[in-house]
Amino acid sequence: MQPHLKRVIILLVIALIAFIFIRSLIVPDSFGQYGWYRGESVIDNRNLQVGYAGSSSCGEENCHKTIYSIWVGSRHKAVNCEICHGPSNDHVNNVRIMPEPANESREYCGLCHFERAARPANFPQIDPETHGENLRCAYCHNPHKPWFV
Ligand code: HEC
Ligand code: HEC
Ligand code: HEC
Repeated sequence: MQPHLKRVIILLVIALIAFIFIRSLIVPDSFGQYGWYRGESVIDNRNLQVGYAGSSSCGEENCHKTIYSIWVGSRHKAVNCEICHGPSNDHVNNVRIMPEPANESREYCGLCHFERAARPANFPQIDPETHGENLRCAYCHNPHKPWFV
């Protein structure tokens, strides 16, 4: 064999051994246990804390049935309770744990409702400079049935 070919082959073999060695150091043990991913990630994900309970759990018997029935008939039914009230699974499991108060600022409603050229024209939008006299939106609109208090 030509000597320069030998050198290339030796270099390739060294690179291959280095690759296998480094790979064995950095690939987690449980990789490939179930498939092309880290097997332990299944346990990690199972142990993640549940934050959101879902709107229907707010509307159960002895809970916020009235608010729920108003909301579910309003155009805000696309906006789940926990979008405004924050993750409330702990509150559902233990009513003594209160969720964070809902953000009542104009800017918060404005995340969805301030006029933006990119929004579909038929989406309800307002100009914050002229609409609502700089009062809290909930002063006039019921957030659970925005049309109207
Ligand atoms: C668009 C945002 C938004 C959504 C969606 C929303 N809320 Fe509210 N909620 C508010 C705000 C803001 C207040 C404070 C209202 C005020 O100051 O008049 C409030 C107040 C409340 C209160 C305390 C005051 C009261 O009227 O008794 C409860 C309980 C409540 N919401 C439950 C719910 C439930 C249950 C849902 C889903 C069915 C829901 N909310 C959906 C924004 C929202
Ligand atoms: C996460 C986005 C989001 C937030 C935050 C939000 N809204 Fe809405 N709002 C919507 C959607 C979606 C609709 C329904 C639009 C449709 O049906 O085309 C809507 C509809 C409305 C309407 C029109 C209702 C009607 O019957 O015509 C008003 C008024 C309104 N929202 C006020 C508010 C107020 C006040 C707040 C703050 C307390 C708020 N929104 C927060 C998404 C949002
Ligand atoms: C002083 C009372 C008042 C306040 C405060 C107020 N609104 Fe309104 N809003 C109204 C009235 C009245 C209408 C219906 C007439 C109109 O379109 O101007 C309305 C209409 C709307 C509509 C429907 C527009 C459409 O074209 O369908 C949206 C969305 C809305 N408001 C969002 C908000 C948001 C977001 C805030 C807070 C930043 C807010 N409003 C504050 C009184 C108020």
